[in-house]
Amino acid sequence: MSTHTLDEPKYNFEIVKWFTLSAVVYLVVGTLIGTFIASQLAWPALNFDNPYLTFGRLRPLHTNAVIFAFGGCVLMATAYYIVQRTCGVRLWSDKLAWFTFWGWTTVIVLAVITLPLGYTSGKEYAELEWPIDILIALVWLAFMFNFIMTLATRKSSHIYVANWFFLGMMIMITYLHVGNSMAIPVSLMKSYSAYAGVQDAMVQWWYGHNAVGYFLTAGFLGIMYYFIPKQAEAPIFSYRLSVLHFWALMFGYAWLGAHHLQYTALPDWTGSLGAAVSIAMIIPSWGGAINGMMTLSGAWHKLRDDYILRFLIVSLAFYAMSTFEGPVMSLKTVNALSHYTDWTVGHVHSGALGWVAMVSIGAIYHMVIKLWGRELYSTSLVALHFWMSTIGAVIYICAMWVSGIMQGLMWRATDDYGNLMYTFVESVAAMHPYYALRTIGGLIFFSGAVIMLYNIVMTLRQPAGAGATAASRA
Ligand code: HEM
Ligand code: HEM
Repeated sequence: MSTHTLDEPKYNFEIVKWFTLSAVVYLVVGTLIGTFIASQLAWPALNFDNPYLTFGRLRPLHTNAVIFAFGGCVLMATAYYIVQRTCGVRLWSDKLAWFTFWGWTTVIVLAVITLPLGYTSGKEYAELEWPIDILIALVWLAFMFNFIMTLATRKSSHIYVANWFFLGMMIMITYLHVGNSMAIPVSLMKSYSAYAGVQDAMVQWWYGHNAVGYFLTAGFLGIMYYFIPKQAEAPIFSYRLSVLHFWALMFGYAWLGAHHLQYTALPDWTGSLGAAVSIAMIIPSWGGAINGMMTLSGAWHKLRDDYILRFLIVSLAFYAMSTFEGPVMSLKTVNALSHYTDWTVGHVHSGALGWVAMVSIGAIYHMVIKLWGRELYSTSLVALHFWMSTIGAVIYICAMWVSGIMQGLMWRATDDYGNLMYTFVESVAAMHPYYALRTIGGLIFFSGAVIMLYNIVMTLRQPAGAGATAASRA
């Protein structure tokens, strides 16, 4: 299927365009819901006493929208783009590619309907009920099969490292999703996990952390390894380091899950193992971040006016920060303070806003220029978007650090007689200013996403070839 005719262009970029535009729309929707639930925590009246709008139902809608709708579409757009460009061949099957697009879109629509209605398996990041889980597995298998077959028909003998990261992500996500979603259905929209008690918790967090490690990290590292050298017009700093990075990351992440379950009914040694491997993960994570940043050595001046490159490089700074913070939080003594507090939420969003969203935004701007063969409608709006994303993310993260550490300290503070110094509700009241501040940070980040959508829509309305030498840089 890799041979193409004159009617059939060399690459299938149509599918990449659809996933790219969907990703931009989902970023706007996902961050809008995030900002709304952030304001519900600051001003609970915004729950409106309406079951469909309560925080409990909208929170999983937010996480599913940003991780799977936005993140998933970014991964599919970039994987299909990169595999074709680096292998010099068209996707193995257009039909399978379109199946992944419509199948994934159906999953997202079903999530939007079922989550506010209260249908949930109760497993974080795996809330969707069993019929939707089966559809997810089918879509993901089709995605992986098409990717592998495209690699198999490649023109070059070499497989570029970005493809290794994508492939590792696809294999691990299929296996984790199927493993964790094993359940016994009792009706069309209700099932019970196949695992019981503490085993269920362990399997869930083996999945949960690997959703972070393979979905939110490995795939996005594939993006980093392709788009930073392309945007900087320089080869990756060290190819050897990228191969080491790949194997260490793939081997390491699978062992971390138990760090989510410190001081629980799990055997103590599992938490210690999780913490030990977490600490070791600083090495590949920082190796990868340094490899990406050093690609700019000798070309740092490009950061001065290339805001797409800034998105990509600053995302690596957030990646390095969150992969230092995570291992520290996995240590039992630190986790005793951080667990159950907003510190975790701050850590999550330094990875999610700073790393995942910003590297994706850089890749999307880069692809829009190449896919539609025209310059962006406004580079000043890209600059504005960059500052809004950075400032919004920093406000969010700092607010959560302060509120999280304060919560932890208030809950454990005792007076001279050993009595707790604060009631729980006092700690809730103390959080209010930080929750309001987080809402402001979220609003700034969300407004940046709206500006991106506007800029891209206006770009598409320009005639092809408009602006500077877009196609010449392809
Ligand atoms: C405007 C931007 C955003 C805002 C205001 C926002 C807000 C929130 C809020 C209020 C929560 C609930 C926290 C809690 O339960 O205490 C949350 C959870 C979460 N969000 Fe966001 N979010 C944003 C963007 C994102 C993005 C882009 C991602 C991923 C790429 C993301 C991933 C998550 C995850 C994984 C959780 C669950 C955290 C946990 O369980 O600790 N968010 N978000
Ligand atoms: C070496 C890298 C990392 C390590 C060792 C690590 C470790 C941790 C630890 C110890 C927790 C808190 C567990 C708890 O107390 O419940 C946590 C939570 C979390 N981390 Fe990381 N982290 C890393 C990188 C990242 C990155 C890059 C992201 C995002 C892209 C991320 C996303 C999350 C999420 C979503 C949670 C919240 C899970 C939940 O409770 O719902 N982590 N991480």
